[in-house]
Amino acid sequence: MTALLETKGLTARYGDFQALFGVDLRLDAGETVAIIGANGAGKTTLMRSIAGVLANGPGEVLFDGQPIGALPAAQVMARGIAMVPEGRKLFPSLSVEENLLMGAYGRKVEGPWRLDTVYDLFPVLKERRNNPGTALSGGQQQMVAIGRALMSNPRVLLCDEISLGLAPVVIRDIYAAFPQIRAAGASIVIVEQDIGQALKVADRVSCMMEGRVTLTGRPAELSREDIHAAYFGVHA
Ligand SMILES: Nc1ncnc2c1ncn2[C@@H]1O[C@H](COP(=O)(O)OP(=O)(O)OP(=O)(O)O)[C@@H](O)[C@H]1O
Ligand SMILES: [Mg+2]
Repeated sequence: MTALLETKGLTARYGDFQALFGVDLRLDAGETVAIIGANGAGKTTLMRSIAGVLANGPGEVLFDGQPIGALPAAQVMARGIAMVPEGRKLFPSLSVEENLLMGAYGRKVEGPWRLDTVYDLFPVLKERRNNPGTALSGGQQQMVAIGRALMSNPRVLLCDEISLGLAPVVIRDIYAAFPQIRAAGASIVIVEQDIGQALKVADRVSCMMEGRVTLTGRPAELSREDIHAAYFGVHA
């Protein structure tokens, strides 16, 4: 079966510095895959490479079997890959609703996600819709960032560290929305530093270290020792 999204021997560099060394990743339709790994492992670089923010070689990123590695970010998004970026990156001068509408900008595809369905998913955003996006709590801002990505009706949703800096109860509220996002048809890649959260939400987990995938498997197949070794490069 053709993967929905696949990276094959993906490399990435920042000038002379090589950040990814031949990363292979596979996401099948309907799946949630989690990427875990320590600071600097290359998780964000992987997300940016898939999203077309960083250029990569032909055939290194395939979407529905088609090479997309050479496409600019806007075209990758138009094909159906949306990113919730690290640090949320809301537009500070825009309201919550305007931030959400930016996610649909330039896309005409039909799909389940519109302002009203995003407000159903995160009702607090409807109450705060005329507030500046940045006047919200961290958790609410993260909901705006997720809602903005959904507004493009993506087939693949890339989420980079959505729980970073948030209280456990807020993280739980945000992840409570994921079954609905999946049911509406999106396949999901999440980057998580919280390994427990990653194991809970994902069908498969890949661990990265120093620009390489060091372990991949289903949560039930992975032992704590294997994860520890893949994450830190040492045996517990
Ligand atoms: N713009 C940049 N210019 C130069 N080097 C960079 C740049 N962005 C990231 N790097 C380097 O690339 C490597 C991978 O960084 P990346 O941000 O992808 O890691 P990460 O796994 O997302 O880490 P974190 O958990 O801290 O978000 C690191 O060594 C980092 O210092
Ligand atoms: Mg990162």
